[in-house]
Amino acid sequence: MLKRTHSAREITPLMVGQKVVLNGWVDTRRDHGGLIFVDLRDRSGVIQLVFSPDVDAEAFRIGEQVRGEHVIAVAGQVRMRPEGTENLNLETGTVEVYVDRAEVFNKAKTPPFYIEDNVDVDELLRLRYRYLDLRRPEMKRNLELRHRITKALRDFLDDRGFLEIETPMLTKSTPEGARDYLVPSRVHPGEFYALPQSPQLFKQLLMVAGMEKYFQVARCFRDEDLRADRQPEFTQLDMEMSFIDEEDILGLVEAMLAHVFAQGLGLSITTPFPRLTYREAMRRYGTDKPDLRFGWELVDLTDLVREVDFAVFSTAIQAGGVVRALNARTCGSFSRREIDDLTRSALNWGAKGLAWINVTAEGPKSPIVKFFSQAVIEQILEALEARVGDLLLFCADQEAVVARVLGALRLELAGKLNLVNRDDFKFVWVVDFPLLEYDEEEKRYVAVHHPFTSPREDDIPLLETEPLKARARAYDLVLNGVEIGGGSIRIHQRELQEKMFSLLGLSAEEARDKFGFMLEAFEYGTPPHGGIAFGLDRLLMLMARRESIRDMIAFPKTQSASCPMTMAPSPVSDKQLKELGIKVRTR
Ligand code: AMO
Ligand code: AMP
Repeated sequence: MLKRTHSAREITPLMVGQKVVLNGWVDTRRDHGGLIFVDLRDRSGVIQLVFSPDVDAEAFRIGEQVRGEHVIAVAGQVRMRPEGTENLNLETGTVEVYVDRAEVFNKAKTPPFYIEDNVDVDELLRLRYRYLDLRRPEMKRNLELRHRITKALRDFLDDRGFLEIETPMLTKSTPEGARDYLVPSRVHPGEFYALPQSPQLFKQLLMVAGMEKYFQVARCFRDEDLRADRQPEFTQLDMEMSFIDEEDILGLVEAMLAHVFAQGLGLSITTPFPRLTYREAMRRYGTDKPDLRFGWELVDLTDLVREVDFAVFSTAIQAGGVVRALNARTCGSFSRREIDDLTRSALNWGAKGLAWINVTAEGPKSPIVKFFSQAVIEQILEALEARVGDLLLFCADQEAVVARVLGALRLELAGKLNLVNRDDFKFVWVVDFPLLEYDEEEKRYVAVHHPFTSPREDDIPLLETEPLKARARAYDLVLNGVEIGGGSIRIHQRELQEKMFSLLGLSAEEARDKFGFMLEAFEYGTPPHGGIAFGLDRLLMLMARRESIRDMIAFPKTQSASCPMTMAPSPVSDKQLKELGIKVRTR
């Protein structure tokens, strides 16, 4: 076997005249009559090989026979490429290797798609042949980035005295709000483990155990509706610390991200990150994960239009709602059809309608201006800092609906008008989340973050009177409109934790049954503690400027949680089912 002496990218002009052995895949092959050119690909990159009958007839014959994706070994001499034949797109584009010996390790069938960047193939096919997909340079770069960033995170935390500790995969249900993946127990028929939605309970128990600073690159499992940034199994960088407060955690995370952006992308990011309260984020951006790469803030006009004789606005305000607007800058030129499209989007997001004003040189044009006095119109234009050429969009409804609708339109227009620079990284902390929200379906309070999150000290009395007004000691980190992490200072006293469970509608028995071990642990000296977890796949997706976390995971699942390569999930044998004491009802 011809064993490699160098990787493709190591071949440089300094090596001219040197003999090398290379191993890899045939990327492309071009037959120029007397000469055959092969681009040889290995993990490091690509180098051009030249097969010539004048150098070695046997090697030339092999060069004639190889095809794309054959795995080969070649020995030969490094030469400069003749002037005018350099390939400036290739790092090794000024040199080539004249082959004097060749060996084919393995042939390959013709791949179902081209092994090159930006291939336009159905993702199902890519996932079916993921091992070929991962040969493409851009996918290889994604996995390299993943490795580099994960290592940088580990190094950073190791330096700061953190211990990486593994927690169980076969465990009891953790309440992060999604459905659990269950694993039947053979030894205990009829009983199930749950795969962890996160290591939340265990990392808190590690604090009780005195570990003080914990982290883990942890796989998490959630059975929920999937999207571009949601996978049924994903990876968290999970952290927990004792004897700290919010400022310690936020400061540490900022330093950590500055470190990995410098290590991974050579970028220096500005710290500290700005902070928005949850309320402010909702009011100004209509979402708790605002994209701050562009302005376009929502403006509240409720007080300004309270007295106006326009039923659409006044009915909404009388019903306790709000009127807010978005200045779609430079969109005054939109056609009626484009405005209708926006209206349709607004309706899809739950609006009852979308009022608009076109700011023209001749004054504001709109079906609704007739309802407003000149003075109010001027105040509206001023509040929205309107200029000629702008399109003002108004939504009147309950606050949550208005936020959702205008928040979505803001993003839709930003996409349409190309307002976001993909090389821009805008972090923002969202803080002061409410502790609880009311779930209309389940008719009970649910934790906005999770049931172990501490309320703010001064808000504890509110738990008795107006629980929905209590704020949590929770924080989310948002990057470019994507929630990349979230965490909180935890409850560390049994009484408060029990109080929280009862607010969430858990009876004392249920609490004991589900979290008895946790409540018990709290009675053996629990330090004040808190932490955070990052969606590592999401962070990497943004760093690699990709649209989907699937591109950052070697073997991801499809939107319907299946794997087109292994065909998981799949039926199992009757014998296995019997052993587990499980009967499957076929639908
Ligand atoms: P949370 O549920 O907010 O918090 O999860 C933390 C981060 O994980 C990422 N994430 C996901 N990424 C991909 N696919 C998914 N299905 C998915 N779900 C969540 C998000 C999110 O911000 N135990 C707490 C953390 C803590 O309190 O310390 C937790 O899991 O980026
Ligand atoms: P109408 O009086 O129903 O014809 O509505 C006048 C304008 O107000 C139309 O452009 C509607 O799309 C818009 N509109 C209706 N309901 C709302 C609402 N809740 N918020 C904002 N605009 C609305």
